[in-house]
Amino acid sequence: MSGLDRPIGVFDSGLGGLTVLRALIDLLPDEDLVYFGDTGRFPYGPKPRDEVVKYAIEITDLLVDRGVKLIVVACNSAASAALEVLRDRYDIPVVGVVEPGLRAAASVTTTGRVGVIGTVGTVASGAYQLAAEHLSRTGRRIQLTCAACPGFVEFVEAGDIDSDQVHVLAERLLAPVKQAGVDTLVLGCTHYPLLARTIADVMGRDVVLVSSADETAFEVRALLEAHGVQESRSGRKGVHRFLTSGDAGTFARLGARFLGPEVCDVESWQWT
Ligand code: DGL
Repeated sequence: MSGLDRPIGVFDSGLGGLTVLRALIDLLPDEDLVYFGDTGRFPYGPKPRDEVVKYAIEITDLLVDRGVKLIVVACNSAASAALEVLRDRYDIPVVGVVEPGLRAAASVTTTGRVGVIGTVGTVASGAYQLAAEHLSRTGRRIQLTCAACPGFVEFVEAGDIDSDQVHVLAERLLAPVKQAGVDTLVLGCTHYPLLARTIADVMGRDVVLVSSADETAFEVRALLEAHGVQESRSGRKGVHRFLTSGDAGTFARLGARFLGPEVCDVESWQWT
């Protein structure tokens, strides 16, 4: 890998990956970033694995064409389906969000009872169970209760993060993790931190909500350092570019609301 001035590529099915992008911007302010939100084809969660793998490859090809030095799969559904495929296929580092999220939870839980909420695809993939098995080999044992939350992503993409309807849905979908008595809940979909207030209301103040964003950003920094390609321009802020396969105006409006003023120029991308 070479070229300190190459950007980091980040992608998600839509706006959710912006929660990871926020952590990357905060931790690595000098780095250039290019974000792809596949809003035209979201949601990924209910789609068959093969289709999600195909989308992940198409987006990574596009980002590699733009010269990225590292890929962050800022989508649990895509990471659960395609992380290993992408790691085999490209010669740049590919970072997912599943292992970092679970690592963060393992460092927070005191009872070892950890809940994971995610899309139907993520939960069905067993990716979190696999990650828990890997963790247990390092001596950190946790007992997982997983629950799929179909519908959450659609609310976020519609800009609705705290209505009564979201609350009612959350009461129903979070019941299994509540009943399991977890002390820590992994937000195993990058859209879910945007619903944190509603989720916290339903789970109660004794349950710690954990997102993968910060831990993923730390992993990215460590990899950049290990490969000797961390940007270190003094005084120049990184440039952030955004592409979406959906409506650019909607992405810019909601993106600015969720991420901040960094989302301004959004390029439209049409899949052919
Ligand atoms: N942010 C994606 C994730 O982390 C959402 C998946 C979807 O589009 O359903 O899983």
